[in-house]
Amino acid sequence: MLIGQTAIVTGASSGIGAGVAKALGAAGANVVVNYAGHAEGANHVVRQIKDGDGSAFAVRADVGSEADVRGMFQVACETYGTVDILVSNAGVQQDAPFLDMTLEQWNRVLRINLTGAFLCAREAAREFIRRGIIRERSCAAGKIIFISSVHEIIPWAGHVNYAASKGGINLFMKSIAQELGLYKIRVNSIAPGAIKTPINRTAWETPEAEANLLKLIRYGRIGEPVDIAKAAVWLASDESDYVHGTSLIVDGGMTLYPGFSTGG
Ligand code: BGC
Repeated sequence: MLIGQTAIVTGASSGIGAGVAKALGAAGANVVVNYAGHAEGANHVVRQIKDGDGSAFAVRADVGSEADVRGMFQVACETYGTVDILVSNAGVQQDAPFLDMTLEQWNRVLRINLTGAFLCAREAAREFIRRGIIRERSCAAGKIIFISSVHEIIPWAGHVNYAASKGGINLFMKSIAQELGLYKIRVNSIAPGAIKTPINRTAWETPEAEANLLKLIRYGRIGEPVDIAKAAVWLASDESDYVHGTSLIVDGGMTLYPGFSTGG
């Protein structure tokens, strides 16, 4: 489905990013597996893609650093010729009650989750416009997919830096979609609910925590990275060619506010 295309996936050494990278590789894309600190995880993802006859390599880059992001796109273009797909996934949580939240906690989350999305998307858009459309590969000049969160919609006490970063991604995504559509660059987000990954381990690792989390999920199961990966492959492919400027919620019904099925 994505044969001949090249994808950069940020934060791909674990969790949703790793799942997305593997699924894009399985769909035929060359994959640049970005990581910030966990080289081992990234190399493992690369090996898995290669074992499935795909092509991939790992690149260390801090998405909050302009120089690192430029360098990552440069090495991707040197290796594969160009970039066709960006999955901007790198994200962190630094949780604290609002009254205790430090400026460092605020800045770190905004820097990685929102500024990182800006720097990567800007570099991707520049490369897509430089290269233009290659019809045999895709109807679009390029595809940008942000991995956001249900917390671009659902307020989240104790996580205000994270919720602000994800709310920011929503209007950032829509605004650049408005700006880039004329270049035939498609821009969308995926808003995952609770997906079983290291970022939310405390929310699912004990049976009690898991039971509490399940109360928030109408479909009755915690998500897996592959649930998001399948949506990402679709959004990266021409199967979704008319989908532009939207946020696809993949949350098992978390945004249905299940508490209201009996309350309210
Ligand atoms: C957060 C997780 C959380 C989920 C649902 C995600 O964006 O990173 O920690 O479990 O939203 O609340």
